[in-house]
Order: sequence, then C-alpha cells, then structure tokens
Amino acid sequence: MAIIRLLFTALLLLPFFLFFSSGAKPQTAADTLSRGQSLSGEQTLVSKGGSFEFGFFSPGNSHKYYVGIWYKKVSKQTVAWVANREKPVSNASASELKLSEDGGNLVLADSKNQIWSSNSTSTASNSTIAVLLDSGNLVLKDEFGSHIFWQSFDHPTNAWFPGAKLGYDKLNKVDRLLTSWRNSEDPSAGPYSVEISPNGITQLYFLVNRTRQYFTTGVWDGRIFSAIPEMRAINSTFDLVAGKNVNYFSYNVPDASSIANYMLDFTGRIIWQQWDPPTEKWVMYCSLPRDPCDVYALCGSFSSCRNYSSPSCECLQGFEPLSMEEWNLGDHTRGCARKTSLRCDGNDGFVKLSDVQLPANPESLAANSTEECESTCLNNCSCVAYAYDTECLMWNGGFLGLKKLPVGSNNDEMLGVLYLRLAASELVRPKSEKARTVALISSVAGLVLITSLVSVLIWRFWRKPAFGVPEAARGFLVPFDYKDIKRATKDFSEKLGQGSFGAVFKGILPDSTVIAVKKLEGVRQGEKQFRMEVSTIGMIHHVNLVRLLGFCSNGDRRLLVYDYIPRGSLDSCLFGSSSEILNWNQRYQVALGTARGLAYLHEKCRECIMHCDIKPENILLDMNMCPKIADFGMAKLLSHEFSRVLTSMRGTFGYLAPEWLTGSAITPKADVYSYGMMLLEIISGRRNTDRTEDGVFVYFPLWAAIKVNERDVLCILDQKLEGDANAEELSRACKIACWCIQDQETSRPTMGHVVHQLEGVLDMGMPPIPRLLQKLAADGFISTLSESTGEFYSAQV
Ligand SMILES: *[C@@H]1O[C@H](CO)[C@@H](O)[C@H](O)[C@H]1NC(C)=O
Ligand SMILES: *[C@@H]1O[C@H](CO)[C@@H](O)[C@H](O)[C@H]1NC(C)=O
Ligand SMILES: *[C@@H]1O[C@H](CO)[C@@H](O)[C@H](O)[C@H]1NC(C)=O
Ligand SMILES: *[C@@H]1O[C@H](CO)[C@@H](O)[C@H](O)[C@H]1NC(C)=O
Ligand SMILES: *[C@@H]1O[C@H](CO)[C@@H](O)[C@H](O)[C@H]1NC(C)=O
Ligand SMILES: *[C@@H]1O[C@H](CO)[C@@H](O)[C@H](O)[C@H]1NC(C)=O
Ligand SMILES: *[C@@H]1O[C@H](CO)[C@@H](O)[C@H](O)[C@H]1NC(C)=O
Ligand SMILES: *[C@@H]1O[C@H](CO)[C@@H](O)[C@H](O)[C@H]1NC(C)=O
Repeated sequence: MAIIRLLFTALLLLPFFLFFSSGAKPQTAADTLSRGQSLSGEQTLVSKGGSFEFGFFSPGNSHKYYVGIWYKKVSKQTVAWVANREKPVSNASASELKLSEDGGNLVLADSKNQIWSSNSTSTASNSTIAVLLDSGNLVLKDEFGSHIFWQSFDHPTNAWFPGAKLGYDKLNKVDRLLTSWRNSEDPSAGPYSVEISPNGITQLYFLVNRTRQYFTTGVWDGRIFSAIPEMRAINSTFDLVAGKNVNYFSYNVPDASSIANYMLDFTGRIIWQQWDPPTEKWVMYCSLPRDPCDVYALCGSFSSCRNYSSPSCECLQGFEPLSMEEWNLGDHTRGCARKTSLRCDGNDGFVKLSDVQLPANPESLAANSTEECESTCLNNCSCVAYAYDTECLMWNGGFLGLKKLPVGSNNDEMLGVLYLRLAASELVRPKSEKARTVALISSVAGLVLITSLVSVLIWRFWRKPAFGVPEAARGFLVPFDYKDIKRATKDFSEKLGQGSFGAVFKGILPDSTVIAVKKLEGVRQGEKQFRMEVSTIGMIHHVNLVRLLGFCSNGDRRLLVYDYIPRGSLDSCLFGSSSEILNWNQRYQVALGTARGLAYLHEKCRECIMHCDIKPENILLDMNMCPKIADFGMAKLLSHEFSRVLTSMRGTFGYLAPEWLTGSAITPKADVYSYGMMLLEIISGRRNTDRTEDGVFVYFPLWAAIKVNERDVLCILDQKLEGDANAEELSRACKIACWCIQDQETSRPTMGHVVHQLEGVLDMGMPPIPRLLQKLAADGFISTLSESTGEFYSAQV
C-alpha cells in the first residue's frame, strides 16, 4: 500500500520536474572555456566524465533562453542550476557566454547588453578558465593554479548537489540557500527557500518569502535530522561543519556513479530523488514536508488544498484562478478571484463548505448563534467567510490555509464547516447545470447508499467505545466523558498538585491505566477551537514530554488527561527531604532529557511551542528517572488567559527571563533562561532564591557565574554529593547554565545547542557574568524578593 502511494505520488510529481527530451546537440565536447572562446546557441560544455552539460536551454514552451547546467546522462533533461534565472534572453544564437576581457568574470550578453555576470572579484588574469566539473560545479580558476575564485556551487538555485554546501560562511561572505523556481517554465526565484537557520542552530528551515517558516528538518543529531527519521533509510551521508563564522551541511552518496540530488520544487517541497536508468525515471525516496498542503500559501486566497487526489489546489465555488496562465503552469500561489463581485447590499449569501480544516488567522467574536455570526459577517463588507461553533470566527479580505480533508479520516477533530460569502447570483446555479446535477445525483445515489452503508459498518468496527486508552495508544486523542472521568478520579478526590493552570488529580481507568487529570481553569475558548488546539498538543510525542491521552470538554468544564508519571516532580527529588538523593549521573541525564524535550518543542514541532513556565515542578520523573516535561502547550490553549495566568504566577520569579519584566517580545529564548536557572538548581540541589545559611546574602546564580569564571565549579556542586561527579560534565553543565541565563536573549544558546553541548558534541567559550543579575543584586532587589515568596507582580524593576 505504502509503495503504491509512493509511486502514485511520484507520478503526480513528474510534471513538476523539467523535462525536455530534445536536448541540444553538443557542438563542442570540451569541459573548458578559455579566454577568447564563447558559447552560443546549441554549443555546450560537457564535464570530463560526461555527467553534466552546460549551455543554453529553454524550459517547456517558454521560448525564453537561460544558461544552465543539466544532467547529461539523464534522458529526460533536468536542469539543476541556472545562471540568468531572472533575466532570460530571447535568442540563444544571438547571445554569447564568455570570459570578460580582463579574465575575471564569466559574462552573458545578448546582441546589445550584458545580461548576467558572475560578479567574481578575482585577481584577473589572462589565464583564467571556466571548467565544468563532473560534480556539476562550474568553476572559474587560473589555468595553472588550483585556486577557485568563483563557483556555481556557491550560488545554488533549486538543486542541492552531492558535495555542495548549504549554509553560510561569513568570512568568505557566501550564503548558500535553495530557492524554488516560480513554476515549471520559469526558473526565476519563487517564494520558497530552504536555508540553514541563521542563528547557528544546525537545522534547515523551509521558508516562504524568506520569513515565514512552514517546515523544519529539526536539529541535526550527528546522523539524521530529528524530524526526518526516514533519513536512516537513505544512503547519503551528511556532514556538518559548524563554527563561529561557518555553518553548513554537505552530503555525499556512497555510490559515486548514482545520480541523485535534493531538489526544491516550485511547490515548496524538497525531494530526495535518484535517477533509475533502466526505467528512465527519477525515483522519489522522500519528500518534505510530507503533506504537500503544509506548504504555507501553496494555494493562494479563496482556494483549497487537498493532498489525497490531484489537483492539489482548487478554486472555491464562485471563484476562478487570478492568473489562468500561472495556474496551469502549477503556480497557485496567487489564488483565485471572484467571478461576480460582492454587492455588499444585504443580498449576498453564503455557501456551506463541509469537511474542511479552517483557514489560518481568523478573527474571533462573541456571538450567541449561527444567525448572529452570519449577520455580523454580512454587515461588514470586508468579511468574506465565517464559521460558528460556540464562538464566531470571521475572515476579512481573504484567507490562506483552507484544507479539504477526506471525510471519515482520522482528522475528524480538525473537521470544520466554513460559510463562504458569495454574490447572490453565484448562489443560484444555471439551469442546465442543475438538470445535469439531478441526473448525476440519481445515478450516483445508489452507489452512495451502498458506500455509506459500508462506511458506517467500517466506522462502527473501528470506532471502539470512547472510554479507554487503546485509541490513544494509536496516536489518537480520546474524547472522554465527564462522568467517566469523575468516576475514574473518584470524584476528584486524590489531588496530585496544583499547577498554574489548575489542579491535577490522579485517576484509574477501568482498564487500570493510571492517569493524571488536569482541571483547566479560565479557558474561555469555544469548543471547536479548544478541540483543535488540544489535538495539536496531542500530536506532540516525545520521550521527554508528558503524553496527552485525551481530553474532556463538557460545557464549561475542560479537562486534560495525561499519562500518570509515578515519581512525581523534580523539585521534591532535589529539594525535598526525601532520603533518596539524585546522583550526578541521574542529574546529568535529567538535564539532558529536559533539554531534548524543550528542543523538540522549540524546533521540531510544526509550529514552535514555547513552554513559558520551566521549573522543577514541571519536570516529572518516571520509574527510570527519565524526565518528562509537563504543562507544555498551555500558552496555545489559553492564549487569552495566558498572560493573566503568568503574571499572577507565584513563586516562579526566579525562572523568568528579564524580557518578561521589560515587556519586550518573548521568544523561545525565555525558556532557555528558565532552563539555565533550573540547571543551576539541578547542579547545586538548592533553590536559587534561597538565602545562604551563614546569613550573608549572595544571590546564588550570580555567585555561581562568578565561580564558573574562576574555574572553580566544584563548590557549586550539591554538597550532598560530596564531590562525587564527573568533573568534565560538571564544568560543562555549569558553563551551559551560565550561558543560558545571559541578559540578552541573543547571547543565550538555543535548546538545540544546549543538547549538543551537553552531549559534548559542541564546545563553548567562557560565559560572561550576566550584568543584569549583578545590577539586581547590587540594588538589593533580589534579596528583598527572596525574602517574600517572590510574587511576580511585585517585580517591577
Ligand atoms: C537569432 O539570431 C540569429 C543570429 O543573429 C538570427 O539568424 C536568427 O534569425 C535569430 N532568430 C530569431 C528568432 O530572431
Ligand atoms: C552582478 O552585479 C550587478 C550589479 O551590481 C547586479 O545587478 C547583478 O545582479 C549581479 N549578478 C549576480 C549574478 O549576482
Ligand atoms: C597574457 O598572456 C601572455 C602570454 O600568453 C603574457 O605574455 C602577458 O603578459 C599576459 N598579459 C597579462 C595582462 O597578464
Ligand atoms: C510573499 O511576498 C509577495 C511579494 O511581496 C506577496 O505578494 C505575498 O503575499 C507574500 N507571501 C506570503 C505568504 O507572505
Ligand atoms: C541503500 O543501500 C542498500 C545496500 O547498499 C540498498 O539495498 C538500498 O536499496 C539502498 N537504498 C537506496 C535508497 O538507495
Ligand atoms: C495528507 O495529509 C494527511 C494529514 O496531514 C496525512 O496523514 C497524509 O499522509 C497525507 N497524504 C499524502 C498523500 O501526502
Ligand atoms: C448573548 O446572550 C446573552 C444572554 O442571553 C446576552 O447578555 C449577550 O448580550 C448576548 N451576546 C450578544 C453578542 O448578543
Ligand atoms: C469590518 O471588519 C474589519 C476587520 O475586523 C474592521 O477593521 C472594520 O472596521 C469593520 N467595518 C465595519 C463597518 O464594521
């Protein structure tokens, strides 16, 4: 089944690649262009081993000519690099590619103007040559030397060749990233790019307009990218070079004779493909993001995306492509336009679109009924669609991200109904069409009847009673009944704790699964919104995150049902009076596991999730002392209430990053700060805000930072361990903690970096002493705070 789907997808993708079978006949078989020589018309360079060809080409039926590199041994020609992608020439025979007079540049000119130049800054010489290498790299170098002063590998377009680098090198001022083609016939830069994270994290981002991220590979762990476990099956070996000024990936294929690459196609997906000579086809092994509809804005406004049959983008009823030409070439990003414009005089109506995943970024309003929501939308001419489910969601002007879901798929939590505004005349179908529809309906009716009977049977068969865990074990969230939860928790009698967002109770399901039930306080979201958010949280699985099993939403009651984690929270193991003391190795593993869990939330989920409340109370330990982060996703779930909840939070002052106080934007680096504070507590076994026994007040994190700088880390270690710790790990952990609590978020590492540093893969310098801490301590601010319980709103700096 999987293979069939793979083949099917590969077939769908075929037209996306550029094929033109009548390849230009090479007039010269040379691989080198010297000064005084030129390429024009059908003349080409061919690399020594015959793998690549360089010259003019014209994609599809475009009659526009570009200079590029394609695979010589691939019968369906595939262009993998383009020089003048933004400026085609109209007549290849009248254009010329040659080395400039001074020998420093490769230049393309038509009969009148210079069209393109390599812009290389070289010590120009008259012995410069351009050589097409067998790796697909076109290089400019001195005939007698080996120094390359320009190469096409430094300016990739949509293909990533084996051996080429993807990433930046600040010293040599190169930033190599992949940019999609505009459409199948237009190699000019499209909206999608794949580039290495600019702030030094070793992962690749997929971006629209180089700003909005729609996918990430996850952090490189030395062997695979964490979000791409499929990589284990791919025979390419990746290599990362990371340093202060450089950060790039390259890869190789073990079998040098195989023809393979990563290609960013114009629909925003990267495809790992290999040429299969016997069948004369590119075989796709993997494409990312996995769901093509996850590519943001792939289908523009007023169109829907569906990934289960072609075509993937469709204009909604009453709309047609804004540009038919682009649409037919596979570029749907401009979306659709109304066939009949709205009159906005109260005569407009709505068409109901069922089984959809609602578009992104609605505006939400309070409304008591569908009618009320509809009339609110109708009364505002900029409202183009609404959805109602306990609250009224409206879209103004346009919308992106509408997905059509297959009915009865396991996505039913995401299913919604959208009411799309149309002009009155669009709501009435023309007569002939109506008649045809009637005929069609009657002939299909029988079939539908049978199909639905079968589906109902299948549905029943699969859909076990909602109460139990087996479904959750398969990755689905269980919608629990309130009365079942009440029974399982013996009417909420065994309280495990009181978190910032509600109390947690222990319960036992009839199948004897032990659960922890959180009674959420202050959720005012509508039912549908709540279900959507919860199902997003439910999709997050990581060994270091507490697993959400299900939820209950019953009127005002909102419950979350989690796995029960037996050993309780880290604070009791660290600071409690329990006889059992965590040894060094356990502490290090707790620190590492927590960092991995956080890195996952920050970097590997589809949307970055900030935790915002990292502290030992929110780290739970299982029987094997494996740490699991609790309470993540709350910021999402309680978006309205969240700031209120945070600002009234008690006792967590010590973990809040300075940006919470200064009111600047909160990024995942705020979690890094809290993590650093917690790491110090894990090392020292004491609360950072505690007073020292001798009564002389020294704020512990500050003191620790000073000691780290003095390279005296042993005194930071929990005295209960009596010095029994791995010295290198201790020193590493202390340094990391101090890096994490830097004042400036840009100075702090990312969680991905923290993981690598804890693993010892990545090294770091000596952390400076955080100045804000110094200042706060000098002002006596921290000492007064530590005397009280440290309520947040007393912290007005
Ligand atoms: C292209 O240029 C060549 C040489 O200048 C000329 O002979 C030919 O007619 C031109 N073709 C077109 C379509 O203009
Ligand atoms: C070369 O420089 C010119 C002028 O600065 C610029 O317009 C052009 O885009 C550059 N070409 C490349 C390939 O960077
Ligand atoms: C160009 O090459 C010739 C030899 O082919 C050499 O004599 C001459 O000095 C060179 N000119 C420059 C400007 O380097
Ligand atoms: C990308 O940029 C173009 C041009 O500025 C703009 O029209 C388009 O809406 C942007 N796309 C997204 C998804 O932001
Ligand atoms: C990887 O290599 C193995 C053994 O060399 C081979 O069986 C397998 O087909 C290769 N996979 C791919 C995707 O090339
Ligand atoms: C379509 O999307 C769903 C949900 O994201 C996913 O499970 C499924 O694998 C996708 N199908 C294809 C053919 O990509
Ligand atoms: C909804 O109903 C409540 C009580 O029935 C009323 O107080 C409130 O004003 C209504 N809301 C709107 C937006 O009409
Ligand atoms: C219509 O809705 C938009 C977006 O919410 C709002 O800015 C605008 O003021 C509204 N217009 C009217 C007439 O209410």
